[in-house]
Amino acid sequence: MIKITTIPGDGIGQEVVESGITLLESLDLNLEFIEAKAGKDCFEKCGTTLPEETIKKAKKTKATMFGAITSVPEKKSPIITLRKELNAYANVRPIKSFEGIKSLYNDIDFIIVRENTEGMYFQNETCEKNDIAIAERVITKKASEKVINFAFNKAKINNRKKVTCVHKANVLKKTDGLFKETFYKISNNYPKIDAEDFYVDATAMYLVMKPQIFDVIVTTNLFGDILSDEAAGLVGGLGLAPSGNLGDKHGIFEPIHGSAPDIAGKKIANPIAMILSMSMMLEFLGEKYYSDKINIATENVIKKRKSLTPDLGGNAKTIDVVNAIIKEIHEI
Ligand code: NAI
Ligand code: MG
Repeated sequence: MIKITTIPGDGIGQEVVESGITLLESLDLNLEFIEAKAGKDCFEKCGTTLPEETIKKAKKTKATMFGAITSVPEKKSPIITLRKELNAYANVRPIKSFEGIKSLYNDIDFIIVRENTEGMYFQNETCEKNDIAIAERVITKKASEKVINFAFNKAKINNRKKVTCVHKANVLKKTDGLFKETFYKISNNYPKIDAEDFYVDATAMYLVMKPQIFDVIVTTNLFGDILSDEAAGLVGGLGLAPSGNLGDKHGIFEPIHGSAPDIAGKKIANPIAMILSMSMMLEFLGEKYYSDKINIATENVIKKRKSLTPDLGGNAKTIDVVNAIIKEIHEI
């Protein structure tokens, strides 16, 4: 029996978590789902966006499914706190073209690995008399080593040829200097994988002009956040973009989109980003067979273009997409 914590959150977060559970329950796996609360609804009911009980529940299971939350001004982000609490230090975002989706390129296939626990999201900001606001940016050798090792390992396991370190060490000499230096030290342990580094501004341009040059990218927290949304825009947008926050003991799996208040309750949220995140979760749990099947079935459903939600130009409901993918899984 594999226990999984589920955090539906707010808006379409709840709808896509339900889709993920429906899909997983259709597979021949012995799973138990334990629900926990977070987000704006939770704040209105119990005065906090992330109750201690939710953290405790997530710490008891290897994997957590996270939908999305509606942010509450002035309150700490539950997902950023959870990533830290569970030491899910590597945020992994696969960026792959889908056949049948109109986008800038149809031959993109790379992975962004973003440091998830420090950098600009260290969450220590101060304000002096409302005149000067200061945010601390923390880079440690230890956290850099962990995420860079993770990226090289991921490259090795997935037969990737190259890891690119993205930074701004020409300006952020100490912090990104340390990240870059750590990157090249670790690259010596992986002689079969090429190592190179780019500035973040140049990377933003290359992502638009020649994204095919990338294989695995490893970068710090804020740069990774921005570049991975940019990259998601290259292959079909938010409804198709999954992510995993991986650590040594725990993983949190979530679509990269938010709670989408504009379409919440209409039952038309695209469940694919969540479903592809479930594939990443099953891989993390050692269930490679179904992880691969989910990916292939989802690609097939997208290619056929029969069951797609309005964000992808279709007129299907969320549940139609889920059912089409389940049917495809059992047919391939
Ligand atoms: P959003 O991702 O919720 O929505 C942006 C646009 O994309 C909207 O037009 C929405 O309808 C569409 N969209 C997003 N996911 C979709 C899906 N699965 N299917 C179809 N259309 C989809 O971003 P927005 O509007 O900036 O933020 C809404 C709320 O979500 C805010 O409170 C924000 O802070 C929060 N948020 C939470 C995140 C999380 O919990 N991880 C991540 C990003 C935003
Ligand atoms: Mg983001």
